[in-house]
Amino acid sequence: MFELIRRDGLARICKLDTKHGVLETPALLPVVNPRFQTIRPRELYETFGFKAIITNSYIIKNDDKMRPDALAKGLHEMLDYPGTIMTDSGTFQSHMYGEVEVKNDEIVNFQREVGSDIGTVLDIFTEPEWGYEKTSEAVDVTLERTREAASLKGEMMLAGVVQGSIYPDLRERCATELRGIDADVHPIGGIVPLMENYRYADLVDVIIASKKGLPPNRPVHLFGAGHPMLFSLAVLLGCDMFDSASYAKFARDDRYMTIERTMHLADMKGLDCDCPACVGRSIDQLKAMKPAERADLIARHNLYISKMEMDRVKRALLEGNLWELAEQRCRSHPALLDGLRRLKEHQDFMERTEPLSRDGAIFYTGPETMNRPVMHRVAKRLKERYTAPRTDVMVVFEGGEKPYSWHRADDIKAILDVADSHFYVMSEFGPVPIELDEMYPIAQSLFPSIQDRDMVDRVREQMEDLAHTHQYGLSCMYDGESTAEMLASLSKGKGKFDIDMARVRAVADYQFGKGAADALFSGKVELVKSKNTEKIRNVIVDGEHVVSMRAEDGFFTLRPPGARRLLKTFPSPRLRAVVSDDSVPFNREGKNVMCGFIIDTDEGLRPSDEVIIVDKNDDLVAIGRIILTKYEAEFFKKGLAIKTREGIKGPVTSA
Ligand code: GUN
Ligand code: ZN
Repeated sequence: MFELIRRDGLARICKLDTKHGVLETPALLPVVNPRFQTIRPRELYETFGFKAIITNSYIIKNDDKMRPDALAKGLHEMLDYPGTIMTDSGTFQSHMYGEVEVKNDEIVNFQREVGSDIGTVLDIFTEPEWGYEKTSEAVDVTLERTREAASLKGEMMLAGVVQGSIYPDLRERCATELRGIDADVHPIGGIVPLMENYRYADLVDVIIASKKGLPPNRPVHLFGAGHPMLFSLAVLLGCDMFDSASYAKFARDDRYMTIERTMHLADMKGLDCDCPACVGRSIDQLKAMKPAERADLIARHNLYISKMEMDRVKRALLEGNLWELAEQRCRSHPALLDGLRRLKEHQDFMERTEPLSRDGAIFYTGPETMNRPVMHRVAKRLKERYTAPRTDVMVVFEGGEKPYSWHRADDIKAILDVADSHFYVMSEFGPVPIELDEMYPIAQSLFPSIQDRDMVDRVREQMEDLAHTHQYGLSCMYDGESTAEMLASLSKGKGKFDIDMARVRAVADYQFGKGAADALFSGKVELVKSKNTEKIRNVIVDGEHVVSMRAEDGFFTLRPPGARRLLKTFPSPRLRAVVSDDSVPFNREGKNVMCGFIIDTDEGLRPSDEVIIVDKNDDLVAIGRIILTKYEAEFFKKGLAIKTREGIKGPVTSA
C-alpha cells in the first residue's frame, strides 16, 4: 500500500508498506554490489539510516557461491540487512555489456525465491539513439514481460519499468498500459545515458510523459539517478525513489560529490565538508591516503551528502519551498537550468496539481520563476474569471510596496473624490486589479526591486495587452497628485469604486469560478473586519455568514450558507465531492473523507481548494479542503482525500 502523507504539486511525501518495514518517500536507495560491499548493508541501515537498499539479483544468480547462499538463507540474512531490499533484474547489464543470459520468468522467480521485497521485471533498456519503431517494439516486449512478471510475483512487490526512450508518446503509452498491470512500483528506466550526457531537458520530458500515464497511487522510481544535484528537480516532478551506485563507483576513481557537481579530487583546492567522513580532515590528508582507504572515505562522504540533500528536499517540501530549492539547485549547472526551463512546456499538466496556496511566500529566483504553474494560473484565471467593475476611468499604479491598496489608499481616495475610477497595479504579475492585492501569490511573493530584462519586457507586453483590450472610457498611468487634477477636468464626478466589495467579488470568482460572486453575495452584504488589521474577516449576506476570508492567503473559507448558495448555482459535480452513503454519517460528524469513499468530484478542484461534500442526493454533508485531485482520488485506496472542517448535521429522520 502506498499512502500520501503530504504533497506540494506533483511532489509528495508518502509511505510505502513493505514486508521489511514502512518506507517513507522520497527515498534514496544505495546500491549494494553483492560482490564488493563498499559499505556494509548493516552500517547503511544503522549508521546512515537508509531503510531501503537495492541490489542486483542477476549478479547473485550468476555467481556460483552467492546463488545457493541466497536461496538457502534469503537475501536479508545473506546481506545482513533488516530493511527493505529491492532487486534489479539484469537489464542494466544488458545496456552496459550487451545480451544477458537470463529469461524474464527465471529472474523474476529467482527474486521471489530469495525473498526480495521489491523485484524488477527484465525490461528492455531503450537506448536514446534508437529509432521510433525499434523503441515501440521494445516497449511492447517490456509490457508483455511485466504481465508475465505480475503473474509470477507472489508475495513479492513488483517494479514494472517505464521504457520508451526519448519519445514522449511511447513513454506515456507504456505508463498508461502499466496502470492495468498488477505492479507496485514504477521505475522510469533507460535514462542513465540522458543523465550521463547532461540531457536534463530531455529527462524532464521523459519524467512528465511517464507521470501522465502512471497511476498516481504507486511510487515512481528514477532508475539510476543518484546524484544529489538532481534530487530537488526530480522530486518536484513527482519522483519518489532513487538509487545510487555512483557514491561507490565515483569514489573508486576519486570523484567527490557536492550538491552542485562532482569534483575530481586532484582539482580540489580545499575541503569544506563536515560530514562524519570528512570532519577534521584537510584536502592534503585526503590526497595522501592509501587509495583503498581514500575510496572508502569518499564513498561515505558521497553517501552522506546524498542523504543530506534528500533530507533537505523533504524539508523544503514540508515547508512549502521546494520550487525555490529546485530553482536554486538547477542554477548549479547550465544543463540543469535547461531542465528547469523545459518545465515551461508542462505548465498545464503541472497546474492540475498546483495547490491553491502554500505556506510562505514565493521567492523570485530568476525569469524561470515566472513559468511556475502558479503564475500560469494567475494569468489564466484573471483572463477567464475576472470581471472588472464598471467605471469610466482606469488608473494604473506602478508597483510598489505590498499590499498595494493599503499603500495607495490616500491616492485612491483623492482620485475617487473627482473621478469614477478603477485601479490596477503594474506588478510583476502584469497588471493586477488592485482589489486582488491580498490574494496568493500576489501579496505572498517577493521580487528584487532591480528588474531583469525578461521582467521588464513581459510586464510591458501585458500592459500593452490591457491597453488594447480594456473597456474603460479613459485610462492613464498614475503620475502623482497631478493625476487627480487632470481627471477632475475630464471626468463626470465622484467615483463609487468600493474596494472591499470589489475584493470579495473578485476573490470569489477567482477561487470558485465565474458566477460565484453573484451566487454568494446576492442580498444585503455586511463585511466584518479585523479590529487590528482592518482586513475583511467575515462576509455576512442577509444575516447569514457565507464565507470568511483568510489572512494568510486572501482566499475564502466556506461556511454552510455559502456552500448552499454555491450548490444552488453550480450544477453537480462543480465544487463538490459526492461521497458514498457509508461515509456520510462520519463526515456529518466532522470526520475526514478517506480515499475510496468518493463517488465523484469536480475535476477543476485543485489541492487545498475548498470543497463542498454532498451525498448522492446533492444534500450538503460537510465542508472541507481537498487533498487529492479527481484523477488521483480514483486511484488511491488508503489515506486522506479531504480534510473536513465542518460537518453538517442532517435532517432528523425517524428510524
Ligand atoms: N538501472 C538503470 N536503468 C535501468 C533500466 O532501464 N532498467 C532496469 N531494470 N534497471 C536499470
Ligand atoms: Zn564529507
